[in-house]
Amino acid sequence: MSAPAPRPGTASPADQDLLLAVVGAGRIGSNHAEIVARRIPGVRLAAVCDVSAEAAKGLAERLGAPVAVSDPEEVLARPEIGGVLVTAPAREHTALVVAAAEAGKHVFVEKPMAVTLHDADRAIRAAERAGTVLQVGFNRRFSPGFAAARAAIDRGDVGTPQLMRSLTRDPGPFTADPARIPAWTIFLETLIHDFDLLCWLNPGAAPVRAHAVADALIRPDARSSGHLDTAVATVVFDNGAIATAEASFSALYGYDVRAEVFGSAGMVTMGDGRSTDMALYGAEGVRIDTSRRDTDLMRPAYLAELTAFTEAIRRGAPAPVGGRDARTALATALACIDSVRSGAPVEIAEAAP
Ligand SMILES: NC(=O)c1ccc[n+]([C@@H]2O[C@H](COP(=O)([O-])OP(=O)(O)OC[C@H]3O[C@@H](n4cnc5c(N)ncnc54)[C@H](O)[C@@H]3O)[C@@H](O)[C@H]2O)c1
Repeated sequence: MSAPAPRPGTASPADQDLLLAVVGAGRIGSNHAEIVARRIPGVRLAAVCDVSAEAAKGLAERLGAPVAVSDPEEVLARPEIGGVLVTAPAREHTALVVAAAEAGKHVFVEKPMAVTLHDADRAIRAAERAGTVLQVGFNRRFSPGFAAARAAIDRGDVGTPQLMRSLTRDPGPFTADPARIPAWTIFLETLIHDFDLLCWLNPGAAPVRAHAVADALIRPDARSSGHLDTAVATVVFDNGAIATAEASFSALYGYDVRAEVFGSAGMVTMGDGRSTDMALYGAEGVRIDTSRRDTDLMRPAYLAELTAFTEAIRRGAPAPVGGRDARTALATALACIDSVRSGAPVEIAEAAP
């Protein structure tokens, strides 16, 4: 079932600047706020909210936003604000999405939209009831090489997908405190990108079964407390395609995001960690420079996804990555978690729209 089209952007007429607020002024919120403030014509950063008043004020001052608050309700009560970017931690997302939709605001929410299917449904229903745009931050779809790969699949150049793979390796060395990382983050916040991507690269097919293995290979000392930093999943689709997704929290050579679709007519690959197209040839071989941060490697993708969000608001069109897509990716992640617990494959029945 497709989601009803949101009503045209009544909170933000097309002949005026669109005013957006960022809720969550941390690492990715700062990145997105800078894009909104400086890089999308006709769009302005009207407010920054963070439970840390200091963080909100610092980011707002740096980017020239007129309002800095610590209570999201203060943002949602402002009639001039047409849309909200929810960039708080994952477990805060659903409450903020529901409150924003109920206040009539269009919402861009970072992944994961929710960490339970019940909450995913609440978020979807709130946006549908309000007739507001709900877009989820699966930025990889907007990265030029990934978008070109999907276009090749749509043209039939790859034929029917048979084998697929997607990987995420976060830049190392891993220095975070494992105790501060919520359990199952590798599935709910990292591999969820890969699960969404695999679905998107296999258009019209649904994931039906997952089998996953995960371990703490980077920080074995944290294994006993449930911290997992390395994982592989296989996902089987209803058109027969078999996919693998893998993740690591520490790639010493930089941020590494790649995918491949092998089909009946050919193969398409995508993703390249190079930060420039320079190659340095010397006595010891060839050296290339790699991206050390997602916000560098995915810079064009973040701009493209946020531009698409503002265009969906202006046109009154559904978001290019909506709540139902996010629900399917979440259902796959949750099936993987069950699979790690049980050691057996798990049906993704819950993912059905
Ligand atoms: N798409 C991507 O490439 C990408 C990259 C990084 C992070 N993320 C996602 O973005 C989200 C945030 O990650 P991060 O790394 O920026 O986290 P972060 O910890 O750096 O920032 C989160 C900020 O939200 C604030 N906050 C907490 N609860 C809040 C609330 N209820 N209302 C307002 N502010 C609140 C915190 O004070 C903090 O400043 C996560 O869901 C993460 O998975 C996505």
